[in-house]
Amino acid sequence: MSALPEAGPARSVVMLDDVTKTYAQGSLAVQALRGVSMEIGAGEYVALMGPSGSGKSTLMNILGCLDVLSTGRYLLDGDDVANLDEDALAEIRNTRIGFVFQQFNLLPSLPAWRNVELPLFYAGVPAPERKRRALDALARVGLADRVDHRPGELSGGQQQRVAVARALVSDPAIVLADEPTGNLDSTSTEDVLALIDDLHSAGRTIILITHEADVAARAERVLHVRDGRLTDGGGVR
Ligand SMILES: Nc1ncnc2c1ncn2[C@@H]1O[C@H](COP(=O)(O)OP(=O)(O)OP(=O)(O)O)[C@@H](O)[C@H]1O
Ligand SMILES: [Mg+2]
Repeated sequence: MSALPEAGPARSVVMLDDVTKTYAQGSLAVQALRGVSMEIGAGEYVALMGPSGSGKSTLMNILGCLDVLSTGRYLLDGDDVANLDEDALAEIRNTRIGFVFQQFNLLPSLPAWRNVELPLFYAGVPAPERKRRALDALARVGLADRVDHRPGELSGGQQQRVAVARALVSDPAIVLADEPTGNLDSTSTEDVLALIDDLHSAGRTIILITHEADVAARAERVLHVRDGRLTDGGGVR
């Protein structure tokens, strides 16, 4: 008999069970998610595709603990997110999840390295270590010579690379990217996708939203969102 542990199914990082999200809009209720169940294993690279308004960003915000679900259950690394208080959720956002957004979401008044160190600041990392890690992350995305530039002094592709550096500086297990190449030309798109491929190769779980089939093709699995539902089962075992 082998002394190695039996190879079971990959550990689930994300487990959603019949999740709904309803936004109150004045007297109207918008049902953005209508019962999403899905399971994503540690180290998987999953793309979410779907038409505008189908609920992709809503789903991403819930996965990233930026917003709360209305009904259903979300287990993140086995923990029921509903049982976590705001401090615990903030800690998850700052240490376990890296975010990349279509609009970059950089603070315009801060130089690149100050933007990149922010998650470490919120996580309570001391200043000298923050700076060292921010400079290191910027070097990894090829911006060692732009660390003092403000976002307005960088091209769109460079700004998104700063955002990728910010996403990886805390060494998160999960990277959530919402249309990360939506505002980029084809060269910068390739640069950013290659960086995301590297993060995946290094063992991180990647969940990427995109409209573009050729971007989704980089993922190991593609899930389709339509009218607040997954059309293809979500890989629930
Ligand atoms: N904060 C909010 N308040 C009210 N309704 C919202 C809110 N955010 C999203 N919605 C609604 O929820 C639905 C899903 O929106 P969501 O942003 O998740 O779509 P999406 O798939 O990301 O679209 P896109 O591809 O255009 O980014 C839409 O009908 C939208 O109008
Ligand atoms: Mg969206």
